[in-house]
Amino acid sequence: MNKPATLPDYTLPEERVPLYETEHLPAADVAALKAEIAELLKARGAVLVAHYYVDGHIQDLAEETGGCVSDSLEMARFGDQHDAETLVVAGVRFMGETAKILAPEKRVLMPAPEAECSLDIGCPPDEFEAFCKEHPDRTVVVYANTSAQVKALSDWVVTSSVALPIVESLDAKGEKILWAPDKHLGHYIQTETGADMLLWSGACVVHEEFKSKALFDLKALYPDAGVLVHPESPAAVIGIADAVGSTSHIIKSAQELPHDTFIVATDRGIFHKLRQRNPDKRFIEAPTAGDGATCRSCAHCPWMAMNELTSLAAMLRDESVMAANEIHVDPEIGRQAMIPLKRMLDFKV
Ligand code: 13P
Ligand code: SF4
Repeated sequence: MNKPATLPDYTLPEERVPLYETEHLPAADVAALKAEIAELLKARGAVLVAHYYVDGHIQDLAEETGGCVSDSLEMARFGDQHDAETLVVAGVRFMGETAKILAPEKRVLMPAPEAECSLDIGCPPDEFEAFCKEHPDRTVVVYANTSAQVKALSDWVVTSSVALPIVESLDAKGEKILWAPDKHLGHYIQTETGADMLLWSGACVVHEEFKSKALFDLKALYPDAGVLVHPESPAAVIGIADAVGSTSHIIKSAQELPHDTFIVATDRGIFHKLRQRNPDKRFIEAPTAGDGATCRSCAHCPWMAMNELTSLAAMLRDESVMAANEIHVDPEIGRQAMIPLKRMLDFKV
């Protein structure tokens, strides 16, 4: 492998476009907003459930107020099991819908209910239903990053934490699988399990941008670095990884692997928790530039970044904003979607 003459140090903050609202806010304003939201959560009988990709201040607030910060599987589990009457979900829309499907009696609010996911957008329910009807002999397994309607059409919902063992167990029973929507995750699972899988052709705009050639070059600059990859990335990027898995698996691997430097191929929001848990280790963003780059996301989910402290506070202050930001799922769709979701939660790894 040729060592490149020079490559930017991806850790330099000067090179980064500011991502989150709090990067523009004075520290005193951030502290005041966090204190106000903590009070409002208490007053509203609400608990904050956040994903690892949202602003680190929202992640901290969730933990400080008895909520949770986690991957999408644990977000679903936490919302299902917690006894709060109101769940405030900081993430993208499918996460709020999942919380509502699992706990229809609870009020589910989102500071950014318009936050989408390219995988969800790329799998319209009517087209997906037609695809399923063409293949009635296949067990339908869908990724959690889908609408409630798509979940309602499935036999199993999975997240990247449990997709492998669930597909393995279906394969062991001789079942053929129809998989949607992420083609990269589907290809990875197919390769690992050898299962017969027919793949829908969706992709994540963030992970699809990681470039294997540029990653090889970066690895040449940091030969002792470990490489951590989310499986929504292309196969060539996954092929370079020392650990592949969900956001929580990436965080666990950074703690357990012996490397003191890691190149990380997933949304930048995860660096908050990685650095908190491993203050002595160095984390470098995997490159989204390089040959053939058309970077639209640059390792940054634009929808996750729509979750802001100011909108969270504005929502909790005002009943009419809460009503506008409430997540609703058609009760019949919700009943159907709950079945494959519960199957996932009940699955013993
Ligand atoms: P996790 O389930 O690994 O948290 O992933 C959710 C997601 O949207 C990744 O892009
Ligand atoms: Fe969807 Fe990708 Fe954003 Fe995750 S990072 S929410 S898969 S667009």
